[in-house]
Amino acid sequence: MSDKVKVIIDGISVEVAPGTTILNAARQIGGDIVPPAMCYYSKLEGSGGKCRTCLVKVSKGSEADPRPMPKLVASCRTTVMEGMEVQNITSPEVVDARKGVVEMLLINHPLDCPVCDQAGECDLQDLAFNHGAAETRYEFERRTFDRIDIGDKIQLHMNRCILCYRCTYVADQLTDCRQQGIVGRGDHAEISTYIEKAIDNDFSGNMIDVCPVGALTDKTFRFKSRVWFTKPVDAHRDCPTCSGKVMLWYKGDDVIRVTARKDENHEVEEFICNTCRFDKKATKDWVIEGPSRIEHTSVISSNHYDTLKPLPVIQENKALMAANKEELERTKKS
Ligand code: SF4
Ligand code: FES
Repeated sequence: MSDKVKVIIDGISVEVAPGTTILNAARQIGGDIVPPAMCYYSKLEGSGGKCRTCLVKVSKGSEADPRPMPKLVASCRTTVMEGMEVQNITSPEVVDARKGVVEMLLINHPLDCPVCDQAGECDLQDLAFNHGAAETRYEFERRTFDRIDIGDKIQLHMNRCILCYRCTYVADQLTDCRQQGIVGRGDHAEISTYIEKAIDNDFSGNMIDVCPVGALTDKTFRFKSRVWFTKPVDAHRDCPTCSGKVMLWYKGDDVIRVTARKDENHEVEEFICNTCRFDKKATKDWVIEGPSRIEHTSVISSNHYDTLKPLPVIQENKALMAANKEELERTKKS
């Protein structure tokens, strides 16, 4: 007997290990049928089940019990069963419910994308673009919070927080003290101000990378550039604290930001330390590997509005020159 479980998602069949969630089974298929996830993070234990953006319809429970599940389920928290059939983008009910979830997330989230550093790489922005309504029906006062200062490296905009809990899991699992959580309920819920106590830790900067919106941003990068005017490059260094594998974000000749590398699910591949993130902003600190892989749907990959003039850092590196060859030729022709 096979030790795999067969599940069909939007008509596509996949075999996965028992105990796999529907979301992770969909990720194994990849493409448009993968439900969006605003709170689940595969590298953070216990994450998921908070935002409901990953809702799917289970139209057949299993081979043994083919009855459909009565309600839409959170795919990040529901495990697959042998013979299960799931609908995501093929179900109008799911698409409609997801619209409702987005509308709810946007009730309190300010639409300040024009001034938000996360714009261009914000999961909520993408979600609103794909599922959001043109107008809000909400007429009441928005939830607002007093400004909280959490130090000189990380900026907290509580008004933008969607309470996904990811940063609290970073504080809990990557730093060595549990200083932080969500306090209050409903409209009053907020990440605890004790967050400032976890901020000194070597890995606290990873809160910035896991935050799906612009609630936690890098103060050293703040307002320096729109992200689509930057050039991301993979680089590494011999770091005693972390893997040292990062992305350097160049503007002209300057490294204006350092982040961890992200995979196709917009999740950090390996968490990096604060020294790599905040203190190593010179090209000489790094061994440059080549251009970062950016999905073609991202606004970051379409950042050339006139003839491309390769940056000095690109000209000095054969791998970067080769990777930019096609782009260069294209811009020369147009
Ligand atoms: S600050 Fe960001 S990561 Fe933390 S709970 Fe809010 S949205 Fe999630
Ligand atoms: S990603 Fe599943 S509930 Fe948030």
